[in-house]
This record gives sequence, C-alpha cells and structure tokens, in this order.
Amino acid sequence: MTQLAGEFGTPAYVYDGDRIRERFRALRTAFPSFEIFYSMKANPSIALVGLLMELGAGVELASGGELFVAREIGFDPLDIVFAGPGKTDRELEDAILARIFAINVESLRELERISHISRLLRVPARVALRINTADGLTRVGGDSTGPLHEQMAGGPSKFGIDEEKLGDLPDHWDKKTIDIVGVHVYTASQILHADDVVANAERTVATARRVEEITGSKLESIDFGGGLGVPHYEKEEQLDLPALGAAVEEVFAPYSKRDGFRLILELGRILVSECGVYLTRVVELKESRGERFVITDGGINQFVRPMLMKIHHEAAVVNKLDQPGVVSAKVTGPLCTPIDVTSQEIKTPSGISIDDLIGIFNAGAYGYSMSPLRFLSHPTAAEILVLNGKATLIRERGEHADVMFRQKSFPGLE
Ligand SMILES: Cc1ncc(COP(=O)(O)O)c(C=O)c1O
Repeated sequence: MTQLAGEFGTPAYVYDGDRIRERFRALRTAFPSFEIFYSMKANPSIALVGLLMELGAGVELASGGELFVAREIGFDPLDIVFAGPGKTDRELEDAILARIFAINVESLRELERISHISRLLRVPARVALRINTADGLTRVGGDSTGPLHEQMAGGPSKFGIDEEKLGDLPDHWDKKTIDIVGVHVYTASQILHADDVVANAERTVATARRVEEITGSKLESIDFGGGLGVPHYEKEEQLDLPALGAAVEEVFAPYSKRDGFRLILELGRILVSECGVYLTRVVELKESRGERFVITDGGINQFVRPMLMKIHHEAAVVNKLDQPGVVSAKVTGPLCTPIDVTSQEIKTPSGISIDDLIGIFNAGAYGYSMSPLRFLSHPTAAEILVLNGKATLIRERGEHADVMFRQKSFPGLE
C-alpha cells in the first residue's frame, strides 16, 4: 500500500483483481447451473467490468448509461439484462434496439410502454417480469435487525409487479410485441443468512410456475437476484458458498434440467466489495474534548457509503500494520460537514503520525460511483487495479479544473 500510495498518490481506490477472479470462480463452482451476471452498479469502473466479462460474467444494468458502457466494453447483448424502475422511453428504445436478453419489467404499465415502443420500432422486445413477491422480508446483515433500506420486495415497493396483480397480466400483455422470456425476483441485498437465500429461491421457483400457468407458455430463464452479502461486523460470517450453492441448486433443479434454460444470478458486492480498499493519507491528527480524530485527505466525497448506509467499515493504519492498534479514533475527511466520517472507529498505534496511510476496507462496492464526488470541489480519487502482481492506474486522479466541466459562467461575467 505504501508503494502504491507513493506511485499513484492518495486518495485512491485500490482493487485486488486476483481476489475478484477467485471470488468469481468460487461462485461459479458453487452454483454450476447458474450464469453469473455482474451488477454493474456495485462498481462501474470499466476495467473491473471488463475483467469480469473476460472471466465469463454477463451483466445486469440499471440505466441507459450502464447500457452504453456494457456495449462499449463489448458484452454480447444476450448476456445483458436491464432492471430498475423509472426507465425512460429513450432507455427502453436503446435496450430494445440493442436486442438485449431481457428488460426486467417493474410494473404492468411499463410492460405497456415497452409494447408501444416496440410497435413503433417494429422490433419485438424480450422481457422478464420482475415480481414483488407477497412475502419476502429478509434478514439483512448478520442479525435480524439489519437495515430495511436494503429490502426491495415483500411489501409496498417501487420494484417489480406485485404478485397479487399477476392475474391482470393478460390484459396488459400484447403477445405480438412482447416475448416474456423470464421471471426476475430480487428481494434484498446484503443477505448473510443462507436460509433466507434458500427461502427466496423457493419463492422464486413458485413465482416462475405461476407465471407459466398464467401465460400458458414455458419460460426460457429465471433471474434469481441473489442478494449475497459480505460481512461488515466482527460477529458476521461469510456465507458458506458451497453449502448455499448446493441448497439453491436443489431448489432450481426442475428448471436447470430443462434444455437450454438459463438460470441467472446477478451479483454485485460479493464479487467486488472485499476486493477494494479506499486509501487516504493522514493530513491532521486532533484531540478534542477527549475524542481523537484522524483527518485524512479523502472523505465522504469519495466514499460516502459508511455514512449513507450507516454501516461499519473496518479501517487500519496500513503502513503500520505491524504495530498494535491501541488508541480509538474517528477517521474523517477534510470536508466542512460533521457527517464527513469514513470510519466511526479505528484502532491506531500510539506512533500514528502525519502522512501515515489509512485503508478503509470492504470498499470495492458502492464506493466511488455512489459518492458525491463534486461536493466541496476536491479532485476525484484515482483507481488502481492490482492483477497478476502488477498495479495499473485504471482511473486518473481528477484536477481542480474538472470542477468547471460542462458549466457556464454567469452571463454578466462573459
Ligand atoms: C435488481 C438488483 N440486482 C442486483 C443488485 C446488486 O446487489 P448486490 O451488490 O448486493 O449484489 C441490486 C442492488 O441494488 C439490485 O437492485
């Protein structure tokens, strides 16, 4: 880390590409009947997305921008699915014209909009029905009181068609324009209880059967979201992938046995979160009324996740890992706001000093792209990918002048 900070500067995100590859392979081995689709929202850096494509992943996306990136990188359209509420007509048009494998439809109204656009374009659309299952409240995180903002089904939701409304499908489905190829169920993210994942699998299979009954035709695919989580707290444990895979495979056996049937797992954080470190440098050390602060050159402007999602991220003084952490402190960035805290508690060695390096772990997912990068006009962080022992700069550090990008000055000043 010291070497990387010296070569590329801070703040920076450092990604371990070898670990991403290992994770991908472990998932593939654990779920042999499934195709792994990478949820680009977790980390859309094109080098990471490209690495996962090289490894054999498809891609799940949720915006026209992500569709653009997926196509630029070179994904086969049949390895692309597009989920997410509030897709604009332009986004739907692009997806239909790109002939992607499936647009995951989030409401019966969206299904009608797709029909309309498809009729105008004279290109049939392939869709998967995303279903908001009637039950499906899932324990998120390691205990049963995990944050509900990671929950996306099992109650009122902007995601998916309410299961109770499935009976109305025939009234909204124009068979001439829409090919229903699959079912999609995504109940929650950050699930660490294997039995909840298996329960979701059972719900998904039951839902797929119901859709087949209603449509009177056989599906080609099931997109079983997954929602597999990563531990953030000491008490949380990694999912046992081989055991979980075996249990989920069993539930889906009636479908995996069907010839040519596609089972899709769409995964983000489990592939990339633990492979990333947010690396900053200590600019100031401060003690105020009994509390210690380690103030670094990067804050929530580059890594808002801990604050936004109220989730703990382990942190350490990475150039002094050989020294025991003895003093508790808060890690903050340089921003003029009290919410600028990137780790609530770090144990620092007594010899911590200016210019030391702070690593915040589990930062490979929902880091850079989720953060308010323009807040307070600091240059954006660099991104570095370490793969096969070689470190490559995959995103250059920003500059002050970037702040002016696409802005117009006040007319009176011209
Ligand atoms: C529909 C859908 N699929 C996949 C994901 C990826 O989730 P995760 O990064 O937890 O695997 C999300 C996350 O919000 C999602 O909404």
